[in-house]
Amino acid sequence: MLEMRTNPPVFKAPRPLAGRVRVPGDKSISHRSLMLAALAVGTSRIEGLLEGEDVLATAAALRAMGASIERGGDGAWTVNGVGVGGLLQPATALDMGNSGTSTRLLLGLIASHPITATFIGDASLSRRPMKRVIDPLSLMGADFTASPGGTLPLMVRGLCPAVPIAYRLPVASAQVKSAILLAGLNAPGITRVIEPVPTRDHSERMLKGFGADLEISYEEGPRIISIRGEAELRPQQIVVPGDPSSAAFPVVAALLVPGSEIVVENVGLNPTRAALFDMLRAMGGSIFEEKRREVGGEPVADLRVKASNLTGIEVPPEIAPSMIDEFPVLFVAAAMAKGRTVTRGLEELRVKESDRLALMARGLARCGVIVEERADGLVIEGRDGAPFVSNDRPIIAADLDHRIAMSFTIASFASRDGIAVDDMSPVDTSFPGFADLLRSLGAETAA
Ligand code: S3P
Repeated sequence: MLEMRTNPPVFKAPRPLAGRVRVPGDKSISHRSLMLAALAVGTSRIEGLLEGEDVLATAAALRAMGASIERGGDGAWTVNGVGVGGLLQPATALDMGNSGTSTRLLLGLIASHPITATFIGDASLSRRPMKRVIDPLSLMGADFTASPGGTLPLMVRGLCPAVPIAYRLPVASAQVKSAILLAGLNAPGITRVIEPVPTRDHSERMLKGFGADLEISYEEGPRIISIRGEAELRPQQIVVPGDPSSAAFPVVAALLVPGSEIVVENVGLNPTRAALFDMLRAMGGSIFEEKRREVGGEPVADLRVKASNLTGIEVPPEIAPSMIDEFPVLFVAAAMAKGRTVTRGLEELRVKESDRLALMARGLARCGVIVEERADGLVIEGRDGAPFVSNDRPIIAADLDHRIAMSFTIASFASRDGIAVDDMSPVDTSFPGFADLLRSLGAETAA
């Protein structure tokens, strides 16, 4: 008989964390590498692809639409593309699992192809808003039948030729921006996205790298991205840098565990992604860049991190998009800092893989932290290094959210009795090998 697991494993750091580690490839760049390679004519090669469930969902969907995608014995991936306009009708529903990026970007791709596809996903993805992509892609001529509230499951019927549009983003979202640009690849003429608040720019960099005619201007203040459609993409050799959003977890762990010193190698430091490290430094965190270089057209460095006494800060709301996925672990760092940390402008965190403001507020409160949940952010009274405590040993519900699961794993290192997470399986969506990486730095698990 199977034993019921009532005591999930708890991570502890019995000694300072030490060592050199590499985190898996960048999730955003990995999705885009596969998609653009699938639209190029010829064979692309991708090194360092994130082999997480989210990216594998993108690969499976692209295969279902005609691209050939294989992993070689050396760990590099090869993709034989079908050419812009060449995607085929998938025979079955496309299962997006937990992945919002796969869903929103692939909806963009399909919107300007003459095919129909059904998108399904897990319970978390099926509550996330898709209207933000349905609206602009409908203007381009695609037809959608979504579940009530504009969620998955949904069906899209693409239009070819699609109508090029000029669209001002109502939410700061790289996924929405990218969906429109990808749809624009196969629309005649120029498609424009007007971006009042800059978001991660991997799509722009990579589309240019693949040979698309893409221009960025600032004529009216906001960033305007223009792409010429009916593009011909040339296959590329891509090297994916390490994901700063994954690096965030060992970095915060090393800051919090007294006496630690680690190096996280090969971390992507694109300025539209790297604000967490700036904020942690502003809090007093000792994070040094070593060997700054370029990998795959992106700035990269090794990060040397030493345990530090942190001080609370006000996080400027305008930088939120440059660290949008890092707030859960920033909240953990803030909870151990001296003084108050105030965050604002974070409404988007409520529609990620979970409601991250609610889950982090609730979970930290169970760990003895004084935290105020506001509509658009958290206010956290730091414990000035005093370990997290609770009456019972808390088991945190991750609610199918990888970053909640990983954040409370890091919090466990700074706790008196350990903090358990009910379900660590979502971690495989973005960070396969997370637990082993922590163990290689000296962490241990106890039942
Ligand atoms: C992503 C953009 C972000 C981020 C997500 C990945 C991307 O979402 O949260 O994990 O690859 O474009 P939004 O653009 O919706 O904020």
